[in-house]
Amino acid sequence: MTSTPGTAQPLLQMTGIVKQFPGVLALGGVDLDVRAGEVHCLLGQNGAGKSTLIKVLSGVYEHDEGTVTWDGAEASVSPPAKAIDLGIATIYQELDLVPHLDVAENIFLGHELSRGGFMQRSRAHREARELLDRLGHPEIAPTRIVGDLSPAKQQIVSMARALSRDTRLLILDEPSAVLDQEEVQNLFRVIRGLTAEGVAVVYISHRLEEIREIGDRITVLKDGRTVGTGLAVADTPTAELIRLMTGRSIEYAFPPRVEARPDRADVVLEVRDLGLAGVFSGVDLTVRAGEIVGLTGLVGAGRSEILETLYGARRASTGTVSIDGRRVRRGSIGAAVRAGVGLCPEERKSQGLLLDESVYSNVTIASLLRFARFGFLDRGEEKRRAEELAKRLDIRPAGVTRPARNLSGGNQQKVVLARWLLRECRVLLLDEPTRGVDVGARTEIYTLVRSLADAGVAVVVVSSEIEEVLGLADRVLVVREGEVVHESAAAAIDEATVLDLVMEGKVVQ
Ligand SMILES: Nc1ncnc2c1ncn2[C@@H]1O[C@H](COP(=O)(O)OP(=O)(O)OP(=O)(O)O)[C@@H](O)[C@H]1O
Ligand SMILES: [Mg+2]
Repeated sequence: MTSTPGTAQPLLQMTGIVKQFPGVLALGGVDLDVRAGEVHCLLGQNGAGKSTLIKVLSGVYEHDEGTVTWDGAEASVSPPAKAIDLGIATIYQELDLVPHLDVAENIFLGHELSRGGFMQRSRAHREARELLDRLGHPEIAPTRIVGDLSPAKQQIVSMARALSRDTRLLILDEPSAVLDQEEVQNLFRVIRGLTAEGVAVVYISHRLEEIREIGDRITVLKDGRTVGTGLAVADTPTAELIRLMTGRSIEYAFPPRVEARPDRADVVLEVRDLGLAGVFSGVDLTVRAGEIVGLTGLVGAGRSEILETLYGARRASTGTVSIDGRRVRRGSIGAAVRAGVGLCPEERKSQGLLLDESVYSNVTIASLLRFARFGFLDRGEEKRRAEELAKRLDIRPAGVTRPARNLSGGNQQKVVLARWLLRECRVLLLDEPTRGVDVGARTEIYTLVRSLADAGVAVVVVSSEIEEVLGLADRVLVVREGEVVHESAAAAIDEATVLDLVMEGKVVQ
């Protein structure tokens, strides 16, 4: 175990934490110390135990062994009310707001301001307004119903709720998974403001460049154990972090593009003047067999909506979509699926995972429907392929019979992705394919997507990570406020130029 001797007295000290679920030792003796005013990053592969550890810390789970020391004295953090009393606030990986309540009601849930008459309500609205302004989001109205907000905005509401109390330790479990680069910068500004006031922050992310930017010290978990703790960000090279997390040295690499792809390859997807009233307009897009086209831009620029329209989940107000030369009926998922379109959605958890079903059923469901349509079912073959994919994507714990509910966040993502990779599509639409996925599995996903393209599939990928789009795609389209503002070979443009393009016309604070 690597560690750096600390001098400051920690605000929080967790020692030898053990947490067992039936059949799974999620935490097998974890140590973590966090100082006031620091950003302490928690790293580890999907399933390493990060979320379980922070759920112990916020009182959601009771640990089986180990001690928690707060301000120098042994403390109990369970149930959650105790953790909240100590000043521990948590933004969970799976957002936990009440969708049918409004923003202010969610922020002050369980607080006296959420009850009572008109005076209380208007005070709640006023204070909600102040919190949201402080977070840099004046556009979120306290009266909006939370279920209607984007995941990124819902997260801001969770942050506002955390800040509405006296917080001494703020825990953020993969907050950037729902944010684009600009929103991440905004979040970092908020975090810096808090740490300057002495608040401690525990920050979980799979994006190592973020850790470099915001983190002070790092603790690395592997298979439920601490393998490195208190490492100073400045003194720990990325290669070392990857080695600690995975136990091996891997390159964070994109598969090579096929140089000089013949321009004569068949056009699979042809989109002309596609528009969705009020969201995007005038989108032209041609994707040939074997090609990966990336769409990048800010969250809310209309990228996901373009994919959803291609999939028939939204009804285009203008334009046409053709696949293999045949026009596809507007606004019909059935027609799009019959034409060979598959969409792996951005919000995978809510849009597609059957939590109580096994990993195996979740992976094969789309293909089963397809096979059933042709009147035969080769279960043995399906199972073999599902198992092979689960293994390649390193879905953990191994074994496809486990219910999806018990998998960690990143492993659930991989399950839904595997479903679409298994299914034989002509056009594969991938929305944020590596969100929440660890560095090891990312490279595997890139390789799989490339091999599907090589087999003749037309791929369209949306990602907020510009580096990912530039590395994976052959061609990129930059989308800003519902319009394609740039199109070129991916190799012909760099990250800074894309950022300039997406930010153009925006007021930079
Ligand atoms: N409620 C549960 N029941 C059974 N097993 C669970 C439960 N919650 C988590 N696990 C298991 O505990 C282990 C740790 O999961 P955890 O969610 O803490 O991982 P994580 O590090 O947060 O991963 P990710 O990066 O994917 O979010 C995993 O093997 C997971 O399958
Ligand atoms: Mg997690």
